[in-house]
Amino acid sequence: MRARQAGQRVALVPTMGYLHEGHLSLVDRARRQAEWVALSIFVNPLQFGPSEDLARYPRDLERDLAAAGARGVDLVFAPEVAEMYPHGEPAVVVVAEHLQDRLCGAVRPGHFRGVLTVVAKLLGIVRPDTAVFGQKDFQQSVLIRRMVRDLDIEVEIDVAPTVREADGVAMSSRNSYLRPDERAQARALYEALSVGRDRFRAGWTVASDLLKSMRAVLSAYPLVKVEYLEVVDAETLESLSRVSPGCVAAVAAYLGETRLIDNVVLD
Ligand code: PAF
Repeated sequence: MRARQAGQRVALVPTMGYLHEGHLSLVDRARRQAEWVALSIFVNPLQFGPSEDLARYPRDLERDLAAAGARGVDLVFAPEVAEMYPHGEPAVVVVAEHLQDRLCGAVRPGHFRGVLTVVAKLLGIVRPDTAVFGQKDFQQSVLIRRMVRDLDIEVEIDVAPTVREADGVAMSSRNSYLRPDERAQARALYEALSVGRDRFRAGWTVASDLLKSMRAVLSAYPLVKVEYLEVVDAETLESLSRVSPGCVAAVAAYLGETRLIDNVVLD
């Protein structure tokens, strides 16, 4: 790769496309860390369960190429499934043992096996100095950090703060699925997490009290069906009964057919 030969630092922003400002903020962040920024667009079938939204996942490559170009991305890597998995489903995959069975992993079996496997492949193909991910996918970022640490993969993992819409909703390609009434109630997730964080800042440390106050917010939004709401340790992802600085409050909820996730660090 020419950039590497010229001694330039290379950054990778892995995405599944349908780029929004959240992704593009990762590009800006990558740019601050490297002279050469690559962005991958790949809707990875390995991380979708049989009843999940692989077929209808939003895609618009032309719009993505324009957005990436306008933001100064040097290379877009947008492989076909057959290029990434030429021999079908890989026989060797990356599994994160117990860490992948908590939070989202508990309700999306096999999801993180698919994520870690494709991220390992992308890191192997692009060989960046740094790779940038979003904090919205909190469990994903924890597992990726553990993967590069435990497997001695030579790359820095940078995790960027969640970019939010004006009403606090975390930017996500899946927000495009929401009906207007669902979109209006999607704010409940961040509103609840913010209440939890405010109470923690006010001195509350009993997790069940924080969870109760957050559940009270969520229950005011009838379209929101909570899948999980937990306060966890930021490394082990274990649920806590006592909360200390650096723990994470995380939520997953359905609005109609659309599953949204969000989290905040209790600081
Ligand atoms: O966060 C995502 O968009 C995906 O999980 C990732 C990291 C690009 C792997 O497919």
